[in-house]
Amino acid sequence: MDQNIINEIRSKVDIVDVVSSYLPLTQKGKNFFGVCPFHDDTNPSMSVSRELQIYRCFSCGASGNVFHFVMNYEHVSFKEALRILANRAGVEIKGLKLTETKNPLTPYYEIYDLANKFYQNNLSTTLGKKAKEYLSLRSVDEALIKEFEIGLSLKDTSTLTRLLEEKGYDAKTLRLLGLMSDHHDTYINRIMFPLWDLEGRPIGFSGRIYDDSNTNKYLNTKETPLFKKGQLLYHYHIAREEVRVKKQVVVMEGFMDVIRASSIGIKNTVALMGTAMTDEQAKLIARLSKEIVLCFDGDEAGIHANLVNGEHFQKMGIQVKVLPLSDDYDPDTFILKEGAEKFKNLLENAMHYNDYKIMRLKQTVNFHSEEEVATYINAVLQETVKLNDPIHEEITLKHLAKECDISYNTLEKRFQELKSASVTREEKVPILPKPKKTPTHKDKYSRATLAILYYLLVSDRMVQKYEREGILFPDENARFLASEILYFKRKYGIIKVADFYTYLTDKDNLSKLTSEVLSQELPEKITEQEMDDYFGVIREYNKNREIKRLQKMIKEEMDPMEKARLAEKIKGLRIGEC
Ligand code: UTP
Ligand code: MN
Repeated sequence: MDQNIINEIRSKVDIVDVVSSYLPLTQKGKNFFGVCPFHDDTNPSMSVSRELQIYRCFSCGASGNVFHFVMNYEHVSFKEALRILANRAGVEIKGLKLTETKNPLTPYYEIYDLANKFYQNNLSTTLGKKAKEYLSLRSVDEALIKEFEIGLSLKDTSTLTRLLEEKGYDAKTLRLLGLMSDHHDTYINRIMFPLWDLEGRPIGFSGRIYDDSNTNKYLNTKETPLFKKGQLLYHYHIAREEVRVKKQVVVMEGFMDVIRASSIGIKNTVALMGTAMTDEQAKLIARLSKEIVLCFDGDEAGIHANLVNGEHFQKMGIQVKVLPLSDDYDPDTFILKEGAEKFKNLLENAMHYNDYKIMRLKQTVNFHSEEEVATYINAVLQETVKLNDPIHEEITLKHLAKECDISYNTLEKRFQELKSASVTREEKVPILPKPKKTPTHKDKYSRATLAILYYLLVSDRMVQKYEREGILFPDENARFLASEILYFKRKYGIIKVADFYTYLTDKDNLSKLTSEVLSQELPEKITEQEMDDYFGVIREYNKNREIKRLQKMIKEEMDPMEKARLAEKIKGLRIGEC
């Protein structure tokens, strides 16, 4: 593809804007910092440079330009990242043949797209009358049907299979994708809810029974090359947009809950489709927003989910809230029965997870048992220490003193003990992760190499000198990088670092080295003397290596005359000839 168009798209988007649409960034000096999404971390170890239009994580080494960020964050190909960013920049890329079908998954997406359209169409035919009645009874109106692309699989057992086979897709593929079982359609006579991937493409279905059939309520797509349940969240692609405005994400159990919430204007929601949350899903949610509200069903399973998932987020260092529902409600039925305003009110007043936990503890403790009360007090104090909020502390302690009939002073003393124990523990945790390799550990040859590479990127004079004097870097990657820099420079005249990164896509070693090179804090201008010094260091390395090579040859040489000649050569090198 034309590098110029790629560069044009890149130059029309600002990496700081793009990254901060995914995660919060704070400015410190020239650069912006945020928590790196590419490894487990809670420290702001990723820096984003507006000037250079690149990002770099000091902890895990992830680095690149805006394309790499989107590729890695969204798990998409370079082309897809390009499409996303072109869209953002308002650049037309129609003529660019972006639809090349190199991706082996492309036909699978097409199949799901066709199936989704087919099911949706069925619902509005006469065959869909009963299903429509059912949806209407559940207050799912036309607008929601459209918004959530709700459809219908038919009683006739092979309609989808036939349609797709006519289009040239084989049975083997349809089975692989979970749309065909044995010799017929997988989904028969169910209301169909498409399940989308993180970008909003349909990749699976959940089919609900709607008449008196006596089988599983929901039938979900099995794991396929496209559908990996633990790696996606229902409604993620919509929530991602909404969260920007609402600054909060609400996590629910079922997609009916998400659909209902949407009908009252709450669209910053995702559903786990059950209560279990994988690490991957937790990370996706945490990336969406700093504020997370858990809103699971009011039954035992929901309570358990609040506790387990709340703990999961807290361990990740994330503040999480809980919206507890009473026993037989789920968000869907609550909104239908109690009304939108009541739900919105509960959402606004969601509890801090710690308070929720304390509330749950209280409900299980037997206040007649001294032992249980003591355990309860300790647990509450432990939770309160974590909050690190003096007002909250005093309120909780006062309340606890009354509740358990114990003196405030005793509680206060115990609280302080727990607090200092937790502080010493915390102090051991470094606030900023150290870079894996600090420059001071590098020998002078690597330092000179990195400095020369740096100025090759930013100074024409260095490029000229390098081309004129030709030195050989000790490190092979550095040699490759230097030749790539020169090539790029010849081709485009100037080097915009961020575009150079695009050029290095697929050359992982070289982009890593480039970001190491750029992370050096070097003066903007370099003097002639400094250039000579750096070149001198590299020459010294080359000389030493040559001497070592000759010494080895002497050892292996039998002919005394030849030995003498080699020794002479070494001597020459040592006093600076050649
Ligand atoms: P729920 O049973 O809470 O679903 O399961 P719901 O949203 O209340 O559904 P309705 O109101 O009865 O139609 C929550 C989620 O668990 C998954 C589904 O993804 C559902 O959205 N589930 C539930 C299944 O996969 N299979 C089932 O049989 C039941
Ligand atoms: Mn439910």
